[in-house]
Amino acid sequence: MNKTNPLPTITVIGSGYVGVTSAAIFANAGYQVYALEINPKRLAAIKAGRSFFYEDYLNPLLEEAVKSGRLIATDSYKEAIPYSDIVFSCVGTPDNPDGSSNLSYIYAAASETAIHAKSGLVYAQKSTVPVGTGAKVEEIFHDADAKISYVSNPEFLREGTALLDSLWFDRVVVGGADPLATKAIIDVYQHVSDLRSTIAQVADMTPGNTVVSDPEYIATSRNSAELIKVSANAFLALKISFANSIAKLADAAGADVVEVMDGIGADARIGRSFLNAGRGYGGGCFPKDVSGLISSGLQHGIDLGIMQAASAENHAMPGYILEKAMNHIEGESFAGKKVAFLGIAFKAGTSDVRKSPAIKMVNLLSEKMEANVHAYDPQALTEEDARGQLHGDVVVAPDMNSALRDADMVIIATDWNEFKEFPLETYATLLNGTILVDAMNCLDPTAVRDAGLTYVGVGR
Ligand code: UDX
Repeated sequence: MNKTNPLPTITVIGSGYVGVTSAAIFANAGYQVYALEINPKRLAAIKAGRSFFYEDYLNPLLEEAVKSGRLIATDSYKEAIPYSDIVFSCVGTPDNPDGSSNLSYIYAAASETAIHAKSGLVYAQKSTVPVGTGAKVEEIFHDADAKISYVSNPEFLREGTALLDSLWFDRVVVGGADPLATKAIIDVYQHVSDLRSTIAQVADMTPGNTVVSDPEYIATSRNSAELIKVSANAFLALKISFANSIAKLADAAGADVVEVMDGIGADARIGRSFLNAGRGYGGGCFPKDVSGLISSGLQHGIDLGIMQAASAENHAMPGYILEKAMNHIEGESFAGKKVAFLGIAFKAGTSDVRKSPAIKMVNLLSEKMEANVHAYDPQALTEEDARGQLHGDVVVAPDMNSALRDADMVIIATDWNEFKEFPLETYATLLNGTILVDAMNCLDPTAVRDAGLTYVGVGR
């Protein structure tokens, strides 16, 4: 807290998807915020008031935060930590080759903070970490003789709807031994919640029809909070893999998995969300959290075979869909066929391609199945990094029309509105062939057929 601003001063360590979003929101809620980032490219972007990735509504908030001076980006712990009352750690936890999480950034951030922290600092861990990590961070603080209260404060925002999720959140989980530290963190979220409409105005967003009741504030032990985060994501991944398993059965038995999931999802005990069958889950969270949970289990002698099965099912989906599509081609081969491949991001609304099943599909098609692939994505292919993950023969199309023109088949692998709203007649006119593969089950099969196309969905 300083003399002019009665609110606590916050440092957000790490400017990835979670860090940038959090820093922008806290600054627009009136907090003095330091964004600590060691990557020069990301640091320069924040200083210029923009994010290094695409996320709706984020840039206006960042711009305002930087312009007002409430968000200061720096790569120096010394410039931020001594003035901070609260630190949110949002550093990356990439996965090791064996599926466990690489926690070196977590421990490095904690060690550096311990050197510069003032007494009574509250340190909230937002990064997804395996259960037991907080205990080790507390040891670092203890060994450095730093008076820091540690809490686990898992993040639940989704990419593509990050601002909506962060302003109209349904729950906040804070786990730790110090009730005052827990309260300090809950106060921040309550303050954000009080100001959410004002912040949304700056971002020029409307919450739409999302119905969210009052947020729940859940205080737990440190270890429970850590386990809540990974278990929540693992359970959602489980739901998706379950839907995909039933989709295969629906294909074999002649049922429609969308009708099946609508039917079972109407049971309030089950719920309809995350039961959409398709090319499977990707992104920076689900694949890593599933493998992280499996490896936590192994460390404690617990066999999470159920998650192994979910992961195996997920890995199999891209190949399964391409095999199904191949059966519709005359001669049952992709070799030399032009395929318009729409959607590279791991989900709509983001430029993020981390562990994207769409990339796996493109590369299988181009490399193994020798198709002539023309890929298009509204956001994901602007970056060198994303383009570099595509097999060398893949052509990056500048727009949808050039991808589709004279193609033998179109595959929709990310459910961007641009693809869903594109007139079906125009798909039919531009294509040379008639096959439309809906790897997200995002189109109406009857409407596609009425446009003269052959619809190939997943489990329908
Ligand atoms: C997820 C969690 O939802 C969020 O709470 C957590 O903080 C981070 O991880 P995110 O990875 O951004 O968020 O995206 P999400 O919307 O959960 O989708 C994850 C993946 O699952 C995407 O690839 C999506 O296409 C896929 N998915 C989702 C399905 O295949 N079927 C579904 O029914 C839902």
